[in-house]
Amino acid sequence: MNTVLTGIKPTGMVHLGNLLGAIRPAIEMSKSSDDSRHIYFIADYHALTATRDPKLFKEHVYSIAATWVALGLDVEKSIFYKQSDVPEIFELQWLLSCMTPKGDMNRAHSYKARVQENEENANKDPDHGVNMGLYSYPILMAADILLYDTNQVPVGKDQVQHVEIARSIAQRVNQYFGDETLIEPQEVLQEGGAYIPGLDGRKMSKSYDNTIPLWVTEKKLRKLIMKIKTDSSAPEDPKDPDDSLIMDIYKLFASQDQVDALAKRFREGIGWGEAKQELFEVVNEYLKEPREKYNELMENKDQLDEILKKGAEKARELALPTMKRVRQRMTGF
Ligand code: ADP
Ligand code: TRP
Repeated sequence: MNTVLTGIKPTGMVHLGNLLGAIRPAIEMSKSSDDSRHIYFIADYHALTATRDPKLFKEHVYSIAATWVALGLDVEKSIFYKQSDVPEIFELQWLLSCMTPKGDMNRAHSYKARVQENEENANKDPDHGVNMGLYSYPILMAADILLYDTNQVPVGKDQVQHVEIARSIAQRVNQYFGDETLIEPQEVLQEGGAYIPGLDGRKMSKSYDNTIPLWVTEKKLRKLIMKIKTDSSAPEDPKDPDDSLIMDIYKLFASQDQVDALAKRFREGIGWGEAKQELFEVVNEYLKEPREKYNELMENKDQLDEILKKGAEKARELALPTMKRVRQRMTGF
């Protein structure tokens, strides 16, 4: 069976860019009727390389879980859990660590970027601020992937190297311990289409502080949408629907009829305030039900615990044969 797996790092509140570029396509995939197995998990322990606040950590994990469930992830058809609930991942990580040359980790992007930063800041210690979690991050990710004989890993460009490292670890293990001790995974590069623009017209990103977060109140959502940057043309001036941030986002939420109707009003002349109100209405309509569901889940975390627990049980069951095989071949036990 073809297995598709992807991990989501819990970092802060998700925004419209994350929804349209990553979450919505993945959820669509979870509902597809192909006969692949789909595994989605919250990479919570990966976030520990940079978090020192347990309260916030926990809140972020629940928030991500609630987001995916509220937006319609099919938790029956797919396998959805949090990494820390599957101890086999950490056992496999150790076995893989013993098979990974240290030099491979020296070449990993995020570690290299940190070293370069230290050099630029004339820090005497090139490893300043680097913990072993950050250093061996790619091995934990390899364990995430290899544990279920994963074939495909949908990722953005920044994660491709990590999947390559997982593949090369699998190859090395197979050379020593026999073919198909581990399955070699392939990355599936997610081009992500066009970037969703943020309030200021640049790519919407937490780093630019220009986001429209998903789970704000209706009032706040409207206020944020009203902040989208526009030019100073007068309401009656004709406007080009193909060159408008508002229209770009509108298209992602509205039906074709709605898009055609609004485009017509653009050409005839529409005030920006009015155009933004139209945008607010479609975004709000889209988020209305999920928002209620999200709030309900965040108020009753037992439901989330239950979903994650069931997911982890399914994941552990799937991990059993792989672990048995790897342990047996590597240790004789
Ligand atoms: P941020 O830039 O806000 O830190 P992340 O890097 O955490 O976002 O991105 C998480 C996921 O959301 C990635 O798969 C990324 O490709 C997608 N994503 C983030 N911002 C956008 C955007 N503006 N448009 C489309 N996809 C996005
Ligand atoms: N490192 C990924 C990120 O930062 C998250 C992740 C962890 C992951 N384990 C994974 C992604 C396994 C795909 C497969 O986004």
